[in-house]
Amino acid sequence: MRKYREKGIDADWRPPTERGRELFRIYALAPYTPFFSRATFDELLGALDLLDRVSPSLTTTSTTSGSLRVLDVGSKNWAYVGALTAWLRRQHPSRALELTGVEIAGSRRYWDLTTRETRARYFAEHASAVSGVQVRFVSRDVRELTGEFDLVVWLFPYLLEETHRAGGLPASRFDPVSTFAHVETLLAPSGQLILANQGEWEWRRVDGLFRKLKLKTQLSCEGSMHASTHPLWLSHWA
Ligand SMILES: C[S@@+](CC[C@H](N)C(=O)[O-])C[C@H]1O[C@@H](n2cnc3c(N)ncnc32)[C@H](O)[C@@H]1O
Repeated sequence: MRKYREKGIDADWRPPTERGRELFRIYALAPYTPFFSRATFDELLGALDLLDRVSPSLTTTSTTSGSLRVLDVGSKNWAYVGALTAWLRRQHPSRALELTGVEIAGSRRYWDLTTRETRARYFAEHASAVSGVQVRFVSRDVRELTGEFDLVVWLFPYLLEETHRAGGLPASRFDPVSTFAHVETLLAPSGQLILANQGEWEWRRVDGLFRKLKLKTQLSCEGSMHASTHPLWLSHWA
């Protein structure tokens, strides 16, 4: 497997916007700078800006003992994993935390012949070392994943066949009905799910895909730092 590493940012670097600096400060991101590039930080801050809008009480599940088990679905190359570890650590300063990322196209290669999986493992290793969160990346279709999670984070599932194809995935794998149904089975009885969608049409498509989970709250993320040019929506299901 070809190695991957990034040139970090200078220790005195701070994000150029006020919102970025606020996130950098409250989530204590400075220890991540030696390991992540500017581009990675941009992605991390974009995801963190969304996660920060989720009320902390929503992710405090009824299980208070043992590790909090968190799943991130469709992690791509996981450049934003530091957002998840920083966000989880801030909400649970002293709790054992286990974070799993699952990605169907982990073997996808970049120009330098590294894969999404190689990069994800690099980001995961450093995010884990900084935060103390136990992190693992699984290169697999989420429908083949087993286990039980207290919290599922699902940022931008493919809900339209054209976005799924544009993401380079075979048409035969496009099946939001079975994917949503399976993700639901991975939740512990008191588990919670946070979903991000882009565009009104995508949000409408979600309606009815969960069989047991009920929508608790939904909010629009206008003016976020996330790179998407679409209107973004966050929702909370339990
Ligand atoms: C729109 S991208 C979002 C990536 C990432 N969550 C983010 O916010 O940048 C959707 C991701 O989900 C992955 N994906 C799609 N179907 C999947 C499945 N059944 N199991 C695991 N990953 C899947 C895609 O390969 C892609 O990386």
